[in-house]
Amino acid sequence: MENELKELFHSVFGIASAEIYFAPGRINLIGEHTDYNGGSVFPAAITIGTYGVARKREDQMIRLYSENFSELGIIEFSLTDLAYRKEHDWTNYPKGMISYLIEQGYSIEQGVDILFYGTIPNGAGLSSSASIELLTGVILNDLFALNIKMLDLVITGKRVENHFIGVNSGIMDQFAIGMGKRDHAILLDTNTLDYELVPAEFGEHVIVIMNTNKRRELADSKYNERRAECELALSRLQTILSIESLGELTEECFEQNKAAIEDGTLIKRAKHAVTENQRTIKAKQALVKNDLNRFGQLLNESHASLKDDYEVTGIELDTLVETAQKQPGVLGARMTGAGFGGCAIALVKEADLARFIKNVGQTYQEQIGYSADFYVANVDDGARKL
Ligand code: GLA
Repeated sequence: MENELKELFHSVFGIASAEIYFAPGRINLIGEHTDYNGGSVFPAAITIGTYGVARKREDQMIRLYSENFSELGIIEFSLTDLAYRKEHDWTNYPKGMISYLIEQGYSIEQGVDILFYGTIPNGAGLSSSASIELLTGVILNDLFALNIKMLDLVITGKRVENHFIGVNSGIMDQFAIGMGKRDHAILLDTNTLDYELVPAEFGEHVIVIMNTNKRRELADSKYNERRAECELALSRLQTILSIESLGELTEECFEQNKAAIEDGTLIKRAKHAVTENQRTIKAKQALVKNDLNRFGQLLNESHASLKDDYEVTGIELDTLVETAQKQPGVLGARMTGAGFGGCAIALVKEADLARFIKNVGQTYQEQIGYSADFYVANVDDGARKL
């Protein structure tokens, strides 16, 4: 793969480069829609992600090509004009990184040629955009010897997403992709950015990623709507409680005070944020104790809460997850990421894997009318030079 990509770089840009980099995608084991509510998340970087081959130029041009969007050819712009442009399509992600790093005072005075190639299925909710952001950050850091700490690249990636692109997401994706460690999941407290690496050891079980192949089209607008609902619920609770985020509440405290939120829908949204945060901490404890049955049960409870209280699943995710939960050898299953399509995960006994994929795939095809895809997740290191 690495040599093929270097050859491709040569044929696209007409010159050779030996510098190759990789940024993973991510799954989230549990802790969904908690990262903008001051709660905990429990993601892991995965071996599918984005490769980049890059070289410094003598002039000030940035020239970017993606093998995944080869029909768009090379998209180019100058270091002196780094404004967001709709017609620049996917290159707005790397452009945002370049722009914000320069704004922070890092010296990037020459252009670059970069070839991108992603193995993350497009629109699958495995964070291809954060993967491109961190990949760009790692490339610039290396080519221009900028000496930027990974955590600063993570924070810059999130700012690009929020302000350059305009998606109001939390920090989970960039954090997992930047700070990931092979065979470990990351328990991250999004309030303090304190984190703990936890061995992702599932014994005779594997994590299977199940792709609905439904693109997360509604995702951005509904995502911002859920976020606003949680902010409103918090502001009503703040009239009687001294808290900064929903993540600070225990379930008991929430139950005692939820009437202050007044609106039934908003109570459900806040209930998810509070209970999911508690489940995440419990799931981490279960994994550390190697209590995989308990861990799986918490995955199931998480999905039910995302379906009933947070309402971000949909028929495709529910069909995959609920069918998966019924299969022999399955300890638990849930959607992963923003929801409304994209992917789910299941903890499946390896010996039952083939039958699992056959059964779940068949039911999904019958009920939804098109097929789902299945991949075994391997947990990888964060963004890096290869
Ligand atoms: C998307 C966002 C993350 C997080 C998840 C939901 O992936 O980018 O910040 O909010 O949705 O947990």
